[in-house]
Amino acid sequence: MKVKINKNAVSEELNRANSILKGFYANTGILVTGATGFLGKGILEKLMRVCPSIAFIFVLIRPKKNQTIEQRFKKLIDDPIYDNIKAIHPSVVNKVHPVEGDVSLSDLGLSAADRNILVENVNIVFHVAATVRFNEPLNMVVNVNTKGTARIMELCKELKNVISVVYVSTAYSNANILEIEEKIYTTSFKPSTVINICESGDQKSIDLLEDEILKIYPNTYTFSKNLAEQIISNNSDSLPVAVVRPSVIGASLKEPCPGWVDNIYGLTNIFMLIGKGTTRTMLVKRSKRLDLVPVDYVINIIICAAWHVTLHRNNEVKVYNSTSNAHPIK
Ligand SMILES: NC(=O)c1ccc[n+]([C@@H]2O[C@H](COP(=O)([O-])OP(=O)(O)OC[C@H]3O[C@@H](n4cnc5c(N)ncnc54)[C@H](OP(=O)(O)O)[C@@H]3O)[C@@H](O)[C@H]2O)c1
Repeated sequence: MKVKINKNAVSEELNRANSILKGFYANTGILVTGATGFLGKGILEKLMRVCPSIAFIFVLIRPKKNQTIEQRFKKLIDDPIYDNIKAIHPSVVNKVHPVEGDVSLSDLGLSAADRNILVENVNIVFHVAATVRFNEPLNMVVNVNTKGTARIMELCKELKNVISVVYVSTAYSNANILEIEEKIYTTSFKPSTVINICESGDQKSIDLLEDEILKIYPNTYTFSKNLAEQIISNNSDSLPVAVVRPSVIGASLKEPCPGWVDNIYGLTNIFMLIGKGTTRTMLVKRSKRLDLVPVDYVINIIICAAWHVTLHRNNEVKVYNSTSNAHPIK
């Protein structure tokens, strides 16, 4: 049966949703971690484009490879995806401020002065930063992804006027379970136990733990994200918190322009090699399906989750799976 779509009704509904979001974000202070990465860059773009009356956007950036955060910030904001915004809302770019920090460091590596600025001015937090390498050593990935999230939650609890906190996880944080509901699952290894072992410096115990984890989970990355979700959940009683779980994030469908992609990992790399003609055949399992979501869909869910979680405020974390539901063929 062909479903007839009323384009006018859809467009009216979209305009209504956009004006609700504009109102929600007006005059707020936002903190984005991971803004130099693929997803974070897109979140920053959409926030600036759709909600130009935001008061401030602070982006947590770590210095890297002899580059200061000012140099890294300039490179970020000079990215062509922001050209359109600079043309439509030139002043909004001045509302974006870099803050030097590193989620792997104690107190996020923030100076006392910067921490104070965040505590006074931030209302909404998007915690996007993570190491996304699948095979990082356990202590490294736990420090960045799990302990890093605990450090962000410590900061969130200090914020004077917090409205909402969104943590970007992964749809594979429970890859050992066949059907994933929109709830937090616990693990047989508690986050605090894993963190303590990883911080003990006892390499033999860390290696033993990693061996045990890899019997259940496909890699240390997804496991570290699961622990981070539990930390978010354990700290959600005093804060409106959302966990968004994207599957594999691919190029955009529409925004900021069709086909926008900013990395060459995984699937994008495969598409690139096919496009160049260097890869012509691949050995694949016929029954498998790749669950891919366009980056603009994920960004929209993340930006809406910050608003939605405040509408349904209670003491529980809200989980939003952001997947295309591509099931393997049985
Ligand atoms: N891409 C996907 O398919 C996918 C799917 C599901 C979930 N996710 C989740 O989405 C989020 C973003 O992923 P992405 O694809 O945008 O990854 P990405 O391009 O690798 O970006 C990662 C971001 O995290 C930052 N970061 C890493 N370690 C940090 C540290 N110690 N302190 C501060 N910042 C740090 C990076 O900063 P630098 O520039 O300094 O390295 C970068 O901005 C992650 O939480 C990931 O788990 C991604």
